[in-house]
Amino acid sequence: MKSNADTGKNKIEKSRNKIPEFPPAGPGKCSKPETAFFGFFRRRISAMLSGRKQTRRCGRKTNNQKFMPLTHTKDLFAKALKGKYALGAFNVNNMELIQAIVEACEEEKAPLILQISKGARSYANPVYLKKLIEAAVSLSNVPIAVHLDHGDTFELCKQCIDEGFTSVMIDASHEPWEKNVEVTKKVVEYAHKYNCSVESELGHLVGAQFDEGEEGGAHSTSGHYTNPDEAVQFVKETGCDSLAVAIGNSHGAFKFKGEQHLDLERLKAIKKALMDANLGDYPLVLHGASSVPKYLVDEINKYGGQMPDAQGVPEPDIEIARRVGCTKVNIDTDLRMAMTAGIRKVFAESPKEFDPRKYMGPARTHVKDLVRHKVKNVLCCAGHAFD
Ligand code: 13P
Repeated sequence: MKSNADTGKNKIEKSRNKIPEFPPAGPGKCSKPETAFFGFFRRRISAMLSGRKQTRRCGRKTNNQKFMPLTHTKDLFAKALKGKYALGAFNVNNMELIQAIVEACEEEKAPLILQISKGARSYANPVYLKKLIEAAVSLSNVPIAVHLDHGDTFELCKQCIDEGFTSVMIDASHEPWEKNVEVTKKVVEYAHKYNCSVESELGHLVGAQFDEGEEGGAHSTSGHYTNPDEAVQFVKETGCDSLAVAIGNSHGAFKFKGEQHLDLERLKAIKKALMDANLGDYPLVLHGASSVPKYLVDEINKYGGQMPDAQGVPEPDIEIARRVGCTKVNIDTDLRMAMTAGIRKVFAESPKEFDPRKYMGPARTHVKDLVRHKVKNVLCCAGHAFD
C-alpha cells in the first residue's frame, strides 16, 4: 500500500507538538535515573513485597542445551512497556562497538539489545561475535538480550535460535502477503519451542533492507507503509511477538530530502488498532532510527569525509515514537558515524599515527558518548536496568 503521508511542514509540526492521546503517553522527557544506593533498596523492598526472588538474568536453554547468560528479549519488552521507555537495539560487528555500547549502558544502568545482522555474521564470524558478547555479559551487570537483525530465511533464523539468541527477526516483508505470513509462522513455530521471540515486518522500508544501510541510497519518499488493519491481521495470523513498522523510515545516513516525514499519525493508528483487537500493549519496532547527528556529519566532513546531504530522523520524532509505543528502536548508522568521526579525527590530526589502539580507542569513546546520550535523553531507558 502506498503512503498517503503528508510531507508538508505544518502537518509535521502539528504531529510533533501533539501529545499522543492514545495509548496513554509515556513521559515527554526522560526522568532522572535513580542512584545505585536508592535503586538497590527499592528493588529489595519490591522483591520482598511481591514475594519473588531477585533475579538478574534468566538465561535461555537452547535446543542443544547451550546456555548463554542473557536476558530474554520478551522480559525486556514487558518491562519497557510497563515503564514506558524504549530499548535501544544497537547493531554490532566488532569488539570496540560491543565494548562501547555495553560500557555506556552499564554506566547509565540501561537494559539493552545487541543485534547482529547477516552481514555482521559474515564479517566477524558468528563464533567471534558470540564470544565477544559472552565476554561483555560476564563483565557487566546490566541485562543484555541478543537479537538477529533482518534474518532473511528460516534457516538463518533457526541457526541463531540454536545458538541461543533471545530473539530473531524474520524479514520477508519484500515478499507477497501469503509468503510473508507463511515464513513468519514457520519461524514463530520453531522459535517458540525454544522460548525465543520473533520480530517480523509488514510493509517495507525504502533503501537497502539487508544491512547495507546507506548503500541503499534511496530516499523514503515512497515505499509500502504499514496498514493498521493489516498489522492486526498479520499479528493474529503469524503469532509474531513484535512488529517492525514502515512509516517512512529507512536505513542509512541519507534518509530524507528536505524535511523529515515519518508518518507518526499512522504509527498511532497501528498501535490503537492492535490494542482494539485485544492484542494488548503490543510492542512495535522502529527500524532506521538513527538521527544522523549534525555534530557527527560536521566532524566527518571536517576531517576529510564526504557526507554532505546526510540526514536522519530528528530526535523529537524518536521521542514521539517512544511515547506512542515503539518499544525497540534500531540504531546502526549513528554508531558507524561516531566511530568514523573518531577515527578520521585522529588520522587528520596525527597523520603519523599507526597504532590501531590510538585511533580505535578514541573512536570507541565517541560511540560510548553517543550511546549514553541516546539511552539517557532519547529512549529514557537509563536507570531501568534493574526494574
Ligand atoms: P539506521 O540505519 O537508521 O541506524 O537503522 C538501523 C536499523 O534499522 C537496523 O535494522
